[in-house]
Amino acid sequence: MSKERDGFSSKFGIIAAAAGSAIGLGNIWKFPYITGKNGGGAFLLVYLLCITLIGLPVLISEMLIGRRSRKNAVESFALLSGRKGWKIPGGIALATSFLILAFYGVVAGWTLNYVRLTLIGKFHGQNSEYITSIFTGFISNPVQPVVSQILFMMLTGFVVLFGVHNGIEKASKILMPFLLGIIIILDIRAITLSGASEGLAFLFKPDFGQLTKEGVLEALGHAFFTLSLGMGIMLTYGSYIKKDISLGATAVQVAVADTIIALLAGVAIFPAVFAFNIEPTAGPGLVFITLPNIFNQMSGGVFFETIFFILLAIAALTSTVSLLEVTVAFVTEDFGISRKIATVCIVISVIIIGAFFSLSMSPDVAISKISVMGMNLFDFIDYFTANWMLPMGALAVAIFAGWVLKSKELKDELTSGGLFPAKYISIFSIMIKFITPVLIIVVFINKVFGI
Ligand code: PHE
Repeated sequence: MSKERDGFSSKFGIIAAAAGSAIGLGNIWKFPYITGKNGGGAFLLVYLLCITLIGLPVLISEMLIGRRSRKNAVESFALLSGRKGWKIPGGIALATSFLILAFYGVVAGWTLNYVRLTLIGKFHGQNSEYITSIFTGFISNPVQPVVSQILFMMLTGFVVLFGVHNGIEKASKILMPFLLGIIIILDIRAITLSGASEGLAFLFKPDFGQLTKEGVLEALGHAFFTLSLGMGIMLTYGSYIKKDISLGATAVQVAVADTIIALLAGVAIFPAVFAFNIEPTAGPGLVFITLPNIFNQMSGGVFFETIFFILLAIAALTSTVSLLEVTVAFVTEDFGISRKIATVCIVISVIIIGAFFSLSMSPDVAISKISVMGMNLFDFIDYFTANWMLPMGALAVAIFAGWVLKSKELKDELTSGGLFPAKYISIFSIMIKFITPVLIIVVFINKVFGI
């Protein structure tokens, strides 16, 4: 294949695409919720430490492994180390991204359906029982969520089909500023509600008494989930970054953007939760049940509700795009298949597997009877990928960058061949060799074995 490798053409494009992957449903519902639950400002401090100690080093490492090898997730470790055995962690990262895409695509599909429901005023003037029944009825319906998932995956495939520069980069450059604009509108609305200050206090006031060991571990775990680490995404994107770009600066900007959006999402959500006297709850409950309830009581609610679900859909889309690209890059490069055919085939397989996950929540369908470790298929894949596969992937990256990659090569990538001073290299080396792997192992052992 003599064709020149496709890639990002501008610095803003790289940041928009990588931040687009990082900023997802995790920022918009999970972060605000775990922050509030674990003592607000106290948790925030720990979280920022985790982003710096675990997130940033792994993010930089993934990008540098990708850029050094100019290969996909499976090939890059093996190529740089000269050892075929390193295809295994690469393969695991690929499998993780594929599985996460299959279930993330299902939830992403929900957001699309909620944009439709809010547009037709489905929740307007309804009580909370009705709003809850819409959600539970929808996810247990065997057809609707699958149709939404198919539409969302087609949208994802449509972006990836056009390639890195014309598809992913262009879409991210348009969608990310749009996402920021929507969050700011929602923030302005939220802080002008009466009672907003209580919500802001819930989010920001440091209460160290409420910060538990579990909270610290949650911060650690969330740090690499929110930065989309451990599944070859940032590695694949790194392989599209030109040599004259500083990887350290890029990674810092992506982590900062991710954190800012998470904070802005918290500011958009919690003042409203408190202003309307609603008990903050976690996960889909907050997003798909609590929020329509809140918007219902707000003047101009239908408008804000619609743009909120558009925001969720955009955040999810730039994440699904990055997940799909990991497999597309592998299949096109390793099997010499055209991007179009590869994208279509992979999207179809993701849809089929995702449909199984979706149907596992449908009581009338036989798949819902399958139970793994007491969970349905959907919950099990969510649990297994986040708690087992992601930490493994992140650990492999840290070990590779810290212990396997030659320090000369590492230095050459971080300085872009001497173009940037990259004074942080010695601190980075210590972190990636010792601190980051130890912290990842601690989180892993704790989450999986509860020790
Ligand atoms: N980083 C995304 C978020 O915060 C989640 C994600 C995980 C996206 C894995 C892609 C892949 O929501």
